[in-house]
Amino acid sequence: MRVLLTGGAGYIGSHTALELLGRGHQVVVLDDFSNSSPEATRRVGELAGQEVPLVRADLTDPEATRAALEGIDFDAVVHFAGLKAVGESVAQPTRYYRTNIDSTLVLLDLMRERGVTKLVFSSSATVYGDPRYVPQDEAHPVGQALTNPYGWSKAMIEQIITDTATAWPELEAVLLRYFNPVGAHPSGRIGEDPSGIPNNLMPFIAQVAVGKRAELSVFGDHYDTPDGTGVRDYIHVMDLAAGHVAALEHAAPGVTAYNLGSGTGSSVFDVIRAFEAASGVAVPYAVVAPRPGDVANVVANPEKANRELNWATTLTLEDACRDSWAWQSQNPNGYAAN
Ligand code: NAD
Ligand code: UD1
Repeated sequence: MRVLLTGGAGYIGSHTALELLGRGHQVVVLDDFSNSSPEATRRVGELAGQEVPLVRADLTDPEATRAALEGIDFDAVVHFAGLKAVGESVAQPTRYYRTNIDSTLVLLDLMRERGVTKLVFSSSATVYGDPRYVPQDEAHPVGQALTNPYGWSKAMIEQIITDTATAWPELEAVLLRYFNPVGAHPSGRIGEDPSGIPNNLMPFIAQVAVGKRAELSVFGDHYDTPDGTGVRDYIHVMDLAAGHVAALEHAAPGVTAYNLGSGTGSSVFDVIRAFEAASGVAVPYAVVAPRPGDVANVVANPEKANRELNWATTLTLEDACRDSWAWQSQNPNGYAAN
């Protein structure tokens, strides 16, 4: 397959590009680099032993996107492009809705014009909102009582894709609901490079371990979980990347949603301990107040993806910590010159 990766220079896109190339597919990366660097794609090419075509365009701009993709053929799309910081989405709702929704509308129109029918969309477990039960399967209610514009944008895009498939029955769309992506390629050459202060747990821990930040704030230790800290389903980004390849290879007419998670929950203290063991470095922390909007326990039921996509996670939290440390220790400033 020739696969267009929108937002393909980002964290998950770069690992997926490498995985697709490793499985013999061709890729084209489209990105505006608003939250990434062309260096990520260059390194993907270095690891894959081939240059990766890179197109710079703002996907919310239909004319610029059409012009940038002129003469470039592709027969499937993975749509990663978008903004993803929950707190920022609360402060800048129109920017979040415009970027996430407009980019999807532009992409769907372009796909229809070109007769490209295969689409994999980066959705999130956030569409389930406050879990009614754990582990969550795909039948869990979606788009109810979500707490931030980022989450709503993902639920709205799932609906937009579903409505598009009704009007265009040839569309083969897969909605991938990621749980908590962590880790890096084992080479340590590509990884997660958050701008500013990391919002998510694993990149924050990695920056503490490498000495960029003094200590981790643990957001609450009185949740109804075994050790009182929040429990999440951490999935290694290489397993996640493999899930995209499986989704592309199994796409069928209509819209199908899959959870991509391990089915195993880990607490904040579990992650700290695993990271310390993998890196050999102490991670100082202080317990502080819970983060507004956080929930106690979010864990995937990944059985549908296991069964229908013939996909399951193979890597552990320990693997993710080891690889995240390889990336962070070799690239303390991310893709910027070290
Ligand atoms: P990322 O920010 O590293 O990647 C997103 C990419 O999209 C970036 O390279 C950015 O420059 C690009 N982009 C943003 N706006 C664009 C535009 N208008 N035109 C073209 N490119 C644009 O994020 P990521 O962690 O790789 O996430 C990829 C996708 O997966 C996102 O849609 C995100 O919401 C979703 N997701 C991520 C997580 C996570 O924890 N990382 C969890 C669930 C879902
Ligand atoms: C966040 C997003 C969610 C997104 C998910 C996957 C928020 C509110 N939600 O969820 O929309 O789908 O990432 O990327 O941002 N923690 C700390 N200290 C920190 C950071 C986190 O204790 O500095 C704790 C949190 O309270 C939580 C766990 O670590 O219990 C994981 O947090 P995080 O990595 O931010 O992921 P989520 O909260 O699951």
